[in-house]
Amino acid sequence: MKMNMKMKMGLVLYVCVAHVLLYHGAYGGMTSSFVRKEEKSVDMPFSSDVFSHPPGYNAPQQVHITQGDHVGRAVIVSWVTQDEPGSSDVVYWLADKTDQKYKATGKITTYKYYNYTSGFIHHCNIKNLQFESKYYYEVGIGHTTRRFWFMTPPPVGPDVPYTFGIMGDLGQTYDSNVTLAHYEMNPVKGAAVLFVGDLSYADHYEFHDNSRWDSWGRFAERSTAYQPWIWTAGNHELDYEPTIGETKPFKPFLHRYRMPFRASGSTEPLWYSIKRASAYIIVLSSYSAYGMYTPQYQWLFEEFPKVNRSETPWLIVLMHSPWYNSNSYHFMEGETMRVMFEPWFVQYKVDLVFAGHVHAYERSERISNIAYNIVNGECTPVHDKSAPVYITIGDGGNIEGLANNMTEPQPKYSAYREASFGHATLEIKNRTHAYYSWHRNSDGYAVTADSVMFFNRYWHPEDDSTAKNN
Ligand SMILES: *[C@@H]1O[C@H](CO)[C@@H](O)[C@H](O)[C@H]1NC(C)=O
Ligand SMILES: *[C@@H]1O[C@H](CO)[C@@H](O)[C@H](O)[C@H]1NC(C)=O
Ligand SMILES: *[C@@H]1O[C@H](CO)[C@@H](O)[C@H](O)[C@H]1NC(C)=O
Ligand SMILES: *[C@@H]1O[C@H](CO)[C@@H](O)[C@H](O)[C@H]1NC(C)=O
Ligand SMILES: *[C@@H]1O[C@H](CO)[C@@H](O)[C@H](O)[C@H]1NC(C)=O
Ligand SMILES: [Fe+2]
Repeated sequence: MKMNMKMKMGLVLYVCVAHVLLYHGAYGGMTSSFVRKEEKSVDMPFSSDVFSHPPGYNAPQQVHITQGDHVGRAVIVSWVTQDEPGSSDVVYWLADKTDQKYKATGKITTYKYYNYTSGFIHHCNIKNLQFESKYYYEVGIGHTTRRFWFMTPPPVGPDVPYTFGIMGDLGQTYDSNVTLAHYEMNPVKGAAVLFVGDLSYADHYEFHDNSRWDSWGRFAERSTAYQPWIWTAGNHELDYEPTIGETKPFKPFLHRYRMPFRASGSTEPLWYSIKRASAYIIVLSSYSAYGMYTPQYQWLFEEFPKVNRSETPWLIVLMHSPWYNSNSYHFMEGETMRVMFEPWFVQYKVDLVFAGHVHAYERSERISNIAYNIVNGECTPVHDKSAPVYITIGDGGNIEGLANNMTEPQPKYSAYREASFGHATLEIKNRTHAYYSWHRNSDGYAVTADSVMFFNRYWHPEDDSTAKNN
């Protein structure tokens, strides 16, 4: 049975309300909170609590971490100092061995963008960490020192459980703040974030006011300082503005955010891979060349055969522009990359593809569209048990608001779609099962709006489609 969006929403509402009445009678406001906000989301003003500068001379701000090597034994720590360069040292120690402290020294970079000059941006890769351990770390040595902590992942292995959070197109509106709060308050605790691109939306401002990159860094710090965010480049990272002489794509983004791209043989930070627990994550750039013979094409061609599913059963790809998305917003923008890469995704049995860009949520069935050869007329997506599920999760809450104009009727390949802000979690249980759920901001923290038990394409390629249940 095919349901249109309204019917589907009605059903979802009914199910959630029933659930709420049953288990949380106290959430009385639940139903009315579903009323869609039609107005655009607005950015939080600079004076907001989430943008406050940490007190103290030259205090490190915008602290963020990401994986620093291929397997999870290194962490790149980044931060910004405003008054003077200060120390680039990170002092760190195992939480249960406080008498033995280590020190690593990073590097400082700065950049100018039109009439903006950045603070002193520090990046320090701390290596040879122990797996599955809690570390404390301090930055701002010599002036105002701030302390944070992180957990290293378990060693890479086929049945290692691990939970990822997934967010995209976050921005810095009141809605962005709610999305982040929901991720933090979700009883399912993500240990690392797969971020599918579009961070600050500083480019929304005249001259791409880069102090909005700074405010975003301070806003996100409450999560990014404590768990690695795996970064994907979105179109709002391009900051390409020839009218003001800014012609180097990704300038602010690449000065502020670092990726461990060399560890996977990549030559550019915009495409790379990491292993984490039982997952192999490939990050692609929708805004870099991917045609035949280009560096990204060549890298991915050599990358897929390296994935050993006996070591990392879960093969996940992140990109910004979705290949399958039935929103009229950005419809088919991902098509050219799909044409280039989809046969490999099917051949190598990618489990899941996460994309953003469209400010709504959508989950596909397992489908592929690789038979077409210009003359045979076979150009319709078909059910394919070797194909990934495509999830669009560009619903972080940025300044452009929701994309609530779907193409009608809902295509068969689309299993679930909804224009609401939210985030998702992926709980990998073992080599065969991973429990996925999407949470909308208008629900209580524990409520899941869309959830599926995904079966691994390599170890357990059984039917996990939604259509099967209809
Ligand atoms: C940059 O230029 C714009 C327009 O002239 C001005 O409004 C803004 O204050 C300037 N910013 C800085 C940091 O000088
Ligand atoms: C952002 O969310 C946090 C956590 O819910 C809250 O403490 C803070 O006041 C919010 N700030 C704004 C400007 O909404
Ligand atoms: C794949 O990983 C398994 C488990 O770690 C290992 O035993 C095997 O040798 C690897 N295969 C290749 C081709 O590297
Ligand atoms: C919604 O999308 C359709 C199809 O792309 C388009 O024709 C229509 O103008 C859009 N409506 C609005 C309100 O944007
Ligand atoms: C894998 O996890 C699923 C879901 O938790 C469970 O049902 C299944 O028994 C597990 N498989 C093994 C071999 O433990
Ligand atoms: Fe985007």
